Amino acid sequence: MFFAHQLQGFGGQRRLPTLHLLILDTLTMKNQNAETQALHFRIDNAKTHPVATPIYQNSAFTADSPYFYTRKSNPNSVEFEGALALLEECKQVVSTTTGMSAIMLVLQQLRPGDHLVINQYIYGCSYKLFQRYAEQMNLTLSILDLSTRAGREEIPDNVSMVLFETPTNPFLKTIPIQEVADITAQKNPQALVVVDNTWATPLFQKPLQCGAHLSLASATKYISGHSDVMGGFIATNDAQLADNLLQSRFYSGAILDPNSAWLLRRSLHTFPIRMREHVRITEDLYQFLKTRDEVKKIYLPETSTKQLQHYGGILFFDFSEAYQQHYVLFRDALSLFDTGTGMACVSSMVAQPWSGSHASLCDSEKRDMGINTGLVRLCFGLENADDLRADLERAFLALH
Ligand SMILES: Cc1ncc(COP(=O)(O)O)c(C=O)c1O
Repeated sequence: MFFAHQLQGFGGQRRLPTLHLLILDTLTMKNQNAETQALHFRIDNAKTHPVATPIYQNSAFTADSPYFYTRKSNPNSVEFEGALALLEECKQVVSTTTGMSAIMLVLQQLRPGDHLVINQYIYGCSYKLFQRYAEQMNLTLSILDLSTRAGREEIPDNVSMVLFETPTNPFLKTIPIQEVADITAQKNPQALVVVDNTWATPLFQKPLQCGAHLSLASATKYISGHSDVMGGFIATNDAQLADNLLQSRFYSGAILDPNSAWLLRRSLHTFPIRMREHVRITEDLYQFLKTRDEVKKIYLPETSTKQLQHYGGILFFDFSEAYQQHYVLFRDALSLFDTGTGMACVSSMVAQPWSGSHASLCDSEKRDMGINTGLVRLCFGLENADDLRADLERAFLALH
């Protein structure tokens, strides 16, 4: 009763000791050794009523729990998935460790001999994964330019899956999801259409409503928003597909860990506000970039369409001829833009796709994609737009 006695004197607050005493009384009645009692001592979870869901940092659940084992599901991943499903307006979301593992789970739905079509403009690591996986699994891989009508019509009759980003990385080209879905269905009604929705996010683009079977994303980017956690997810309205993905995730162990799921779910609280601010800042700086002679062309997708309502955060530009080789000078003159692999978060980033996101491609592959050393990617964070504009202006002046 040593512990109980201490609690009774706890700052004169009666509610807390009473709860603890109840549990201690039950335990001491069992007449067990103190170490056994200490081992089995638990607070009564049902009585905690926290305002925010805690981190369920545990691998196992008792047999009467619907969660079973964290490799299958966990309250934190389920809550994150539920909140995402509301945003994506879909029936089921399957969360994963990273964006790449979301893509991998989707690829695992293919069988040897299947025909995978990807878009020519795509994130460098995804491109490499498709090449490697197609070779290992004996898939046929077709790389088409799905941003053109001619490219879309080249989708083959024996297609099994069409996978693309829209807007694309790089160049932010728009792929009309419904049109790809219609053409694919004409060629093979069983084929799956998969959209990597990382850059538009489920807030501004809902691929499942435009005919896609699966919408996936890296949650490491805008969903996290803070460069401190990795994650991915796949959304679908198809119960059978969801079940297959859940099984693939269970057997491959690709589920989000509880701590990451909790962080991502917390980030979702501010996600719409952050995204609206990214849009505002991007519009502001786009107007500024248009005035600069050092900039030849700016890449941004068309918005206010049925497919893409808004867009913000990341844009590309080409340096004008005289500045094609000036990226390093420009980057080093910036003080508010970090360099590195991260992006789509609260702090601004500058990158050169040639040496960054697409570095895993050989030079000829990069050139085929239209990437050269004068292409720059700017990711606007949530700094004040006036400060970002001043920083960019200083860096442009440093090139002269
Ligand atoms: C469009 C796109 N998809 C997928 C990924 C992979 O996401 P992750 O880094 O979370 O694995 C990235 C990463 O940059 C990306 O840009």
